[in-house]
Amino acid sequence: MAVMKKYLLPILVLFLGYYYSTNEEFRPEMLQGKKVIVTGASKGIGREMAYHLSKMGAHVVLTARSEEGLQKVVSRCLELGAASAHSIAGTMEDMAFAEQFVVKAGKLMGGLDMLILNHITQTSMTLFDDDVHTVRRVMEVNFLSYVVLTTAALPMLKQSNGSIAVISSLAGKMTLPLIASYSASKFALDGFFSTLRKEHLITKVNVSITLCVLGLIDTETAIKETSGVIKFRASPKEGCALEIIKGTALRKDEVYYDSSSWTPILLGNPGRKIMEFLTLRSYNMDRFVSN
Ligand SMILES: NC(=O)c1ccc[n+]([C@@H]2O[C@H](COP(=O)([O-])OP(=O)(O)OC[C@H]3O[C@@H](n4cnc5c(N)ncnc54)[C@H](OP(=O)(O)O)[C@@H]3O)[C@@H](O)[C@H]2O)c1
Ligand SMILES: *[C@@H]1O[C@H](CO)[C@@H](O)[C@H](O)[C@H]1NC(C)=O
Ligand SMILES: *[C@@H]1O[C@H](CO)[C@@H](O)[C@H](O)[C@H]1NC(C)=O
Repeated sequence: MAVMKKYLLPILVLFLGYYYSTNEEFRPEMLQGKKVIVTGASKGIGREMAYHLSKMGAHVVLTARSEEGLQKVVSRCLELGAASAHSIAGTMEDMAFAEQFVVKAGKLMGGLDMLILNHITQTSMTLFDDDVHTVRRVMEVNFLSYVVLTTAALPMLKQSNGSIAVISSLAGKMTLPLIASYSASKFALDGFFSTLRKEHLITKVNVSITLCVLGLIDTETAIKETSGVIKFRASPKEGCALEIIKGTALRKDEVYYDSSSWTPILLGNPGRKIMEFLTLRSYNMDRFVSN
């Protein structure tokens, strides 16, 4: 009975709370007039997210390296009904650019409600072959720049009770051959941003963090890189982009988008959630929480 009270009840409460707390319905109006940054928005899933946000009447500031690619997306966003659409081109290999980009975007829109972190540096599927330079570039672009962008955006997001979407992959929750650096960068995102989410809860910072775990999506880059190696069914990028926006607007912890509906059950990892919950109970956080 004592064990039951100490462990089982809290676990039950945790899971019931988890399943019934996120039942709010998504409405496109939730994004109307919202100020949103999308990185990696010149093509692929990022571009589709910019289009959905525009149809919903959001303000968008987009970034990627290709100035020309971004211009085309911005024009289309305005046609689709964006409240405003701007782009700032640059590379996320440059952390100074990442930081300045957020400041400029905030000035353009007069604040920030949603930060969608989506860009990745291109990598090809190959055995790891001592190429430490690639590992460093991938960690900097796919992980470190996400931290820099978040740090620069947090003051604005705290003011607006805003949201962060972190785009990850099945490869950020499980391991497969041929993508060691990419996988490392996606696991790093889970470690960092899932920790940050817990700290926000404890310190009452009302900025949500949604980790998006995607299966194979039919973007040009992904189809090209995986052809001849992977023969899974790719899911549509339009639907993927919409699910990311919905989950982020509803302030969910995680979004899964994959061709198999077993994925969230198998990768959701209840064991990890129980361990985290129980371990946190033996923490004393008083020193870290003001008032
Ligand atoms: N597609 C999939 O199957 C799949 C599966 C799981 C997860 N995901 C995740 O979904 C997200 C989007 O993937 P995607 O398939 O849509 O990719 P994508 O079509 O290749 O688009 C990548 C975007 O990042 C930009 N980018 C590339 N290098 C950059 C750099 N150094 N600095 C700044 N921007 C850079 C690209 O524009 P420029 O080249 O103009 O810079 C482009 O806008 C990624 O986080 C990816 O890991 C995708
Ligand atoms: C943010 O949320 C707090 C409560 O957590 C509320 O008092 C405040 O008005 C909200 N601010 C905005 C801009 O929505
Ligand atoms: C956090 O912000 C959201 C969005 O503004 C709001 O709906 C929610 O009530 C806030 N939560 C708390 C605990 O203040």
